[in-house]
Amino acid sequence: MADLTFHGHATCSIETEDGTHLVIDPFFENNPVCDTSVDEVEADFILVTHGHGDHISDVVPLAKRTGAKVISTVEVVEFLATKGIDNAHGMNIGGARDFPFGRLKLVHAIHGGSIQMEGGGPPHTTPCSGLLLEVDGCRLYHAGDTALTMDMKLLEGRVDVALLPIGDNFTMGPEDAARAVEFIRPKVVIPIHYGTWPVIDQDPEVFRGLVGDRASVKVLEPGARFTLP
Ligand code: NI
Ligand code: MN
Repeated sequence: MADLTFHGHATCSIETEDGTHLVIDPFFENNPVCDTSVDEVEADFILVTHGHGDHISDVVPLAKRTGAKVISTVEVVEFLATKGIDNAHGMNIGGARDFPFGRLKLVHAIHGGSIQMEGGGPPHTTPCSGLLLEVDGCRLYHAGDTALTMDMKLLEGRVDVALLPIGDNFTMGPEDAARAVEFIRPKVVIPIHYGTWPVIDQDPEVFRGLVGDRASVKVLEPGARFTLP
């Protein structure tokens, strides 16, 4: 079974049974709640949901140090090429592909997407995605940044563990995230994208109450490790 480590905000890493390291949405150095540093984390693959700084800001240093392959939308991959990242694979919403770590599908997310990376360059508008990942027999959904969407009903019965934003303001809040749980019916739900700054402060216990017995709510502190079912 694979292990997931939550690093705060939307950043997490996964270590598969065979020791492959995946990092999702690397945001370490300017992340006020992060447990570790971009200089310490291991990566063979870096998965990026969209181009906002709180999801992409540490892609370049992490990819350059580790040589990890970056997987994201074609538009994000094209942008990263201008920053010297060539070991990358572009996909688009609705497309799936088998990788050495398992199968990855990009799924719909409703959100904005201009890239603002350190070092400048013109703003670059990109689509946003969620990640549907099958690794060591676990079906994981990292929703990225998104509003509640009817498309989540397409995931019903296809997700074991869902990472859902609950911070409100930029994404779903607790009420809509609880409705997302009704739509998706995962076994386990992990709230993310809250508590990083005051504007997205939320009490995950309120979210747990709203979900009720529909799913097991696993609240992870930054640095906490969770074995995927
Ligand atoms: Ni965003
Ligand atoms: Mn975000």
